[in-house]
Amino acid sequence: MERTLIIVKPDAVQRGLTGEVIKRFEQRGLKIVGMKFIHMTKDLAQKHYAVHEGKPFFEGLVTYITSAPVVVMALEGNNAIAAARKTIGATRPTEAEAGTIRGDYGMEIGRNLVHGSDSVENGELEVSNFFTEAELFSWDRST
Ligand code: CMP
Repeated sequence: MERTLIIVKPDAVQRGLTGEVIKRFEQRGLKIVGMKFIHMTKDLAQKHYAVHEGKPFFEGLVTYITSAPVVVMALEGNNAIAAARKTIGATRPTEAEAGTIRGDYGMEIGRNLVHGSDSVENGELEVSNFFTEAELFSWDRST
């Protein structure tokens, strides 16, 4: 079963869109197996975005993601990576389709509301950067 790391970024939290973002993933059918509200340290932000180190927007990205609290979630499901990315929409909000989170609420690439892992490998890696095994739950929808 695939897992993806979702971050409800500072702009979404500050705009009161946390519930709306979580709702969309739940309605899509992705299962929340881990969730917490954190203020990311610079070290964790640099680790999470290590692949972008050296790019012109890297420093700004780290400053932004550590500027205010975020909600981090581990979501699980068949094809969770692709399903979450469809729900999120294109990285550049002006290119994101209406009906996606970024297409409905975003205008700026640097404030694009949500992060979702981009591959199965990165999903596993990113989830392990933010959650211990004890913070991840295995649960059944039908009780
Ligand atoms: P995210 O899905 O979190 O993954 C990397 C982030 O880098 C991306 O969302 C954007 O917020 C940010 N990003 C990518 N390209 C640019 C850019 N050209 N300018 C500013 N931020 C960018």
